[in-house]
Amino acid sequence: IQDGQRLFWTAKDVSATLPARDDGGHKGTFGTALLLASTRDMPGAALMAGLGAMRSGVGKLEIGTDPEVINGVVSALPESIYLREGLRKVGAGEVELERYRAIAAGPGVHPDDVTEKAVQALLASPCPLVLDAGALSMRSYPKRHAPIILTPHPLEFSRITGIVKEDLAENRVFHAVSFAKKWGVAIVLKGNHTIIAFPDGDVRINPTGNAALSKGGTGDTLAGMILGMLCCHDNWRHAVLNAVYLHGACADKWVETRSAHTMLAHEITSLLPEVWKSFE
Ligand code: APR
Ligand code: MG
Repeated sequence: IQDGQRLFWTAKDVSATLPARDDGGHKGTFGTALLLASTRDMPGAALMAGLGAMRSGVGKLEIGTDPEVINGVVSALPESIYLREGLRKVGAGEVELERYRAIAAGPGVHPDDVTEKAVQALLASPCPLVLDAGALSMRSYPKRHAPIILTPHPLEFSRITGIVKEDLAENRVFHAVSFAKKWGVAIVLKGNHTIIAFPDGDVRINPTGNAALSKGGTGDTLAGMILGMLCCHDNWRHAVLNAVYLHGACADKWVETRSAHTMLAHEITSLLPEVWKSFE
């Protein structure tokens, strides 16, 4: 890739593409999002992704999760509603998926048969999809109208593509673009300078973020933010780019006054309101 500078998604791009919140809107205007997250041994993922989504513009959020997870999430996120055993129900065809504006799956879940069955049902739906963490597996993707957005960190990218990690580390843009085109999906390849590759070969690099983000849970927050932004943006590419940008910008805000060692993933969403405002 020549002239990497031109690939950066910039502050100007963010300001030009963030949506206004329509004064005539009601919660239906901004859509209902479904988040399929957390098993009982990873209960916090649903909370962090849920906070990310609810702070990023959705009208309503439903969290499909293990019943044991719910009480812990409710105290910190009382605004959400719940779909008990969401993954199993989606996989069994018991959930009407058409009513969601967008769906995210994977934070805090295992890449097992229950998850794969649910993912196959999601892929057969007409909804924009975000697949993260446990919802990432080696598979092919159907041709579909609504976007599919994969959000792997490098190890997950290696797991789903078979590319060895040394090769990936040296050719991140090349591999992200190749697989985005081959599978017809968007790939958010995370890390310092996250790469966002689109199915038509277009690619952007995110300039924000720092090592304060190198801590468990920050990826869950990002998956939720992408989900929320998909609900309030008309253009899904802008939703993904702005979510990645603002997620990193929150970490940049943190290190202005606080040590990079100390940020917690759920604190990203406490910083988001002011950071987002600064681009409006
Ligand atoms: N500079 C900029 N951004 C960074 C840096 C850095 N040095 N380090 C990490 N980040 C960002 C990434 O770009 C990404 O947005 O922090 C986020 C980390 O996301 P994940 O790697 O998915 O981390 P995590 O939230 O802990 O994942 C939770 O899901 O993906 C699985 O195996 C993972 O079990 C873990 C769980
Ligand atoms: Mg993760």
